[in-house]
Amino acid sequence: MTQPFFITTPIYYINARPHIGHAYTTMVADAIARAHRLLGEDVFFLTGTDEHGQKVERAAQKAELPTPVFADQVAESFRQMCGDLNISNSDFIRTTEPRHHRAVQEIWRRVAAAGDIYKGDYEGWYCTVDEVFVPETQLVNGSCPTCGGKVERLKEESYYFRLSKYQQPLLDFYEANPEFLQPAFRFNEVRTFVAAGLQDLSISRTSFRWGIPVPDDPAHVMYVWFDALTNYLTALGFGSDDASAAARVERFWPTVTHLLGKEIVRQHAIYWPAFLMSAGLRPPQRIVAHGWWLMGGAKMSKSVGNVARYQDYVSVFGVDALRYFVMREMPLGLDANFSDEGILTRFNSDLANDLGNVVSRTMTMIHRYRAGVVPAPGEPGSLDSALQRQADGTIERVKRNFSTYQITVALQDTWELISAVNKYIVEREPWKLAKDTGQKVTLDSTLYHAADAVRIVAALIDPVMPEAADRIRRMLGGTQEAWSTLKSGTLAPGTTLGSVEPLFPRIEKTLEELRSMASDNVPPSSTPHTPPTAATPATGAEAPAAPTAAAPQPPAAPSTGAGRISIDDFMKVELRVAKVLEAEAVPKSKKLLKLKVDTGVDQRTIVAGIAEAYQPEQLVGRTIVVVANLQPAKLMGIESQGMVLAGSVEGGLPTLVGFDTPLAPGARVR
Ligand code: MSP
Repeated sequence: MTQPFFITTPIYYINARPHIGHAYTTMVADAIARAHRLLGEDVFFLTGTDEHGQKVERAAQKAELPTPVFADQVAESFRQMCGDLNISNSDFIRTTEPRHHRAVQEIWRRVAAAGDIYKGDYEGWYCTVDEVFVPETQLVNGSCPTCGGKVERLKEESYYFRLSKYQQPLLDFYEANPEFLQPAFRFNEVRTFVAAGLQDLSISRTSFRWGIPVPDDPAHVMYVWFDALTNYLTALGFGSDDASAAARVERFWPTVTHLLGKEIVRQHAIYWPAFLMSAGLRPPQRIVAHGWWLMGGAKMSKSVGNVARYQDYVSVFGVDALRYFVMREMPLGLDANFSDEGILTRFNSDLANDLGNVVSRTMTMIHRYRAGVVPAPGEPGSLDSALQRQADGTIERVKRNFSTYQITVALQDTWELISAVNKYIVEREPWKLAKDTGQKVTLDSTLYHAADAVRIVAALIDPVMPEAADRIRRMLGGTQEAWSTLKSGTLAPGTTLGSVEPLFPRIEKTLEELRSMASDNVPPSSTPHTPPTAATPATGAEAPAAPTAAAPQPPAAPSTGAGRISIDDFMKVELRVAKVLEAEAVPKSKKLLKLKVDTGVDQRTIVAGIAEAYQPEQLVGRTIVVVANLQPAKLMGIESQGMVLAGSVEGGLPTLVGFDTPLAPGARVR
């Protein structure tokens, strides 16, 4: 009977639309799912959205939409992401679905029946961004230790889960399952944390309504993590009366791999197994924690405002190239920087030069010298055998590395095979062999072995780049091959090739040209997003630079391709470096400051909505960016001759745009 394999992504909060961070986990999980299918396993791959909790309720209020309507809109953008990124998920779960309510209430009842829930009062700190209770001792400068955001004081009646009771059972479980959490250093952190003692956990709230009601006490809604973690069981059918659902739970639980970002390890490695033990269920088999994509040194995140849109990269480089880049660039467990330069370099060197080249030269030679039909190999010489050995070794290592989630290593290994094929072709010099009829057998052999190795490369890149793998197979006249039977020398002689098409044509454009393409070319299927900011188009913050104090963006406001502007339109805006000469408060205004600035060409007055964030004296002498060719406008009776650029996160205070290196007034900003 085929082996079951269950892989999950976290279910994503729907307070904001998906960005590269969410796309990353989903693409990695997809590659793992595809690899296990190729290994012949019975794969169930789950992703979805985490829709309850205070954060989502507030985001809906800010968007001035009823929460269920808001939830439908944003959840759809995550579902759309799966389509856009060629994700092969078996199910997409939303925690607002009735099947999930049933499952969570069933878990609650079981945990209550085990005597692990009691009522008390919670008084303490809460971080709404991460939806976590933060003990006073863990605050860092009064803020959340995970996201650095503000925490709020809560005082309300709450149900508690007896987490403290599970300290020893958890430690025993870790001891018995040394592979439970990857990477090992994270597992050590968890063990140390648990060994230091666990406090009971507040698992219900009364101060808002957007959640799953506690059975028999609807004044309480469940803590969003109690609700969310259960999704992994809901999707298998837990809580349903259906016999086939019960069979599915039986089949796939607990042989599950939870793939997630490092910031939510505690919930998965401590709370979740404890809830399950309490409910009489087995803890998950494996947790794999990856690092963060950083942008400008900070975790890419909506709350910081430094997010990159996956759609921009898909429109310029294609889905497969984005998938390849993120999986090649970030070794499992470590953080990595997301940069436009990084992806362009990998595209041109790894995809266009290495992979694209080996495929096109092999196919072209078979078309040219053997009329597009794969010749039969002669007796293998030492070069041929060495290439075959390397190919077979790579197959085994790639299988192993996928099984241990080392996708980066698997890709490195595959690229060594690609280099070896390129080198083999260079050494054999088929173009010379073709001129000598006495070398017919050697040429046949060379073409055969090169094509055979390309076939293996296509199979090995399949989980990461399914489209490219498919295109190579079409050129080779073959079909998808299972990893279980993959080995060198099995390409059938006599196979007729398809026509040769370029796989990854080299991109000769500059980063600036690519960035303007990214904002012009968002594919029609992609989710509407705020266009990236002017200064860093492909990677800009989600909220556009605001001239005055933060104007919250309705998260769901759709804009179509027609709403985007060309680079020429953008260049009409004259952004210039300016220096603040004088600054003073505007009488009777809380938000406005009157500035006198030197624009390098003139001195002028600008009224800016930054008074809540800056004292006038902080600004004098400071370098800022202004829109210099704006129509003058009167604000509080003062004529403002331009606009100051500042960024802000939703609802936050504005921060003036600045530079790493000082620039003289008058310099253009573009
Ligand atoms: N809803 C919870 C998870 C509940 S699971 C039962 C949540 N949601 S989230 O929307 O904040 O998504 C967090 C996950 O998104 C991370 O764990 C990670 O998988 C992915 N990422 C979000 N930002 C990321 C980066 N900057 N870098 C890498 N992955 C990131 O937490």
